[in-house]
Amino acid sequence: MRMAGGNAAIVLAAAPQRLRNADAPWPYRQDSDFHYLSGFPEPEAVLALLPGRPQAECVLFCRERDQLDERWHGKRIGTEGAVTGFGLNDAFPIDDIDDILPGLLEGRERLYCHFGREPEFDAHLLTWMRRLHDARGGGVVPRELMSLGYLLDELRLFKSRGELKLLRRASQLAVEAHRAAYTMAQPGCYEYAIEAELLRSMRAAGAVPSYPPTVASGKNACILHYADNHTRLECGDLVLIDAGAEWHCYASDITRTIPVDGHFTGPQRELYDLVQTAQSAAISMVCPGNDWDSVHGAAVRVITEGLCALGLLPGDPCAALESEAYKRYFMHKTGHWLGLDVHDAGDYRVDGQPRVLEAGMVLAVEPGIYVPQGDTTVAEAYRGIGIRIEDVVVVTASGPEVLSADLPTVAEEVEDMLAGRG
Ligand code: GLY
Ligand code: MN
Ligand code: MN
Repeated sequence: MRMAGGNAAIVLAAAPQRLRNADAPWPYRQDSDFHYLSGFPEPEAVLALLPGRPQAECVLFCRERDQLDERWHGKRIGTEGAVTGFGLNDAFPIDDIDDILPGLLEGRERLYCHFGREPEFDAHLLTWMRRLHDARGGGVVPRELMSLGYLLDELRLFKSRGELKLLRRASQLAVEAHRAAYTMAQPGCYEYAIEAELLRSMRAAGAVPSYPPTVASGKNACILHYADNHTRLECGDLVLIDAGAEWHCYASDITRTIPVDGHFTGPQRELYDLVQTAQSAAISMVCPGNDWDSVHGAAVRVITEGLCALGLLPGDPCAALESEAYKRYFMHKTGHWLGLDVHDAGDYRVDGQPRVLEAGMVLAVEPGIYVPQGDTTVAEAYRGIGIRIEDVVVVTASGPEVLSADLPTVAEEVEDMLAGRG
């Protein structure tokens, strides 16, 4: 609120309950910014922050308790519960918002909101502005409408100790889910059965998946966001498992690529070692003072040099780096911010320059190599191999801290782990 200034107001809405089909709802997930500012977990709520307002600075509009509705849909927090349980200074019924909120905004010079995200919220905002404008005597409408993301994204980029604790737990639960899944990931098993095991492990611990898991065996691993998960695992396949857990709204994002029968083939191992070396090189760059491009650049360099040495890219590595020829097999960035969202808030460039890393930032580091099945420019043995290794990394004053380090990445250690799965 201090950043917004004493003459500003911040208004944001809870995520709506979304329907999957007909009247069947998706599991509810609160909007990340709303959760960040209020911790209030219900839909049909609006938060108004009014710095310096003597009566109440943090005001919530939410659903009232309703005995009949609660018999059908479960307990509501209600206005009283919002004040006693969530540290809000005052709360009103959401049905009264059109009458109350315009008055709260009266005289504020600046209004921070998200525009263009939710058409319904945009429409309400215009209604509140009109009501204020039409008020008896003419209300003072905020002169400046500001992007709330401009204020919040920067705050969310730096994680507090409490947030790091939640991210640590989210990572640990994903590590456990991966381990459970590897036990199943043997020849004859279907990708969806592995997905089921990932979900079982997360739900058994009270977590939810932070995104739909990718379980991609064989050539499916070359599809970056593969989520069909319907193929049978065959002897000699690799299986790429990209699955993260969400704990109290904080996300982890972990990928491992393992040999289904417990042993890498020669060509698989060559590409695997490249990705693993690239990931270690990228993680070692995750230090305060280094920038984003140096993290990505480290992975790109290792992968390009390796692909040239193995003959997958023609010519010398300098030329392949210069022409970005590596993008044929490594087409995504090496990472992204991680936090309340899997691809978390925060700028990757500042004034046109790559962002410099600082302690408290958290990122996923995830290089990969994907050789399409139909790529006739490379030796047949490499075709249809897709490999990614992804970990959750915290920038600390003393260097990178890998929250998912309990899952091995080095090929021999992966094979040893698989040998013990029974
Ligand atoms: N699981 C999404 C990503 O790796 O970015
Ligand atoms: Mn990721
Ligand atoms: Mn991922």
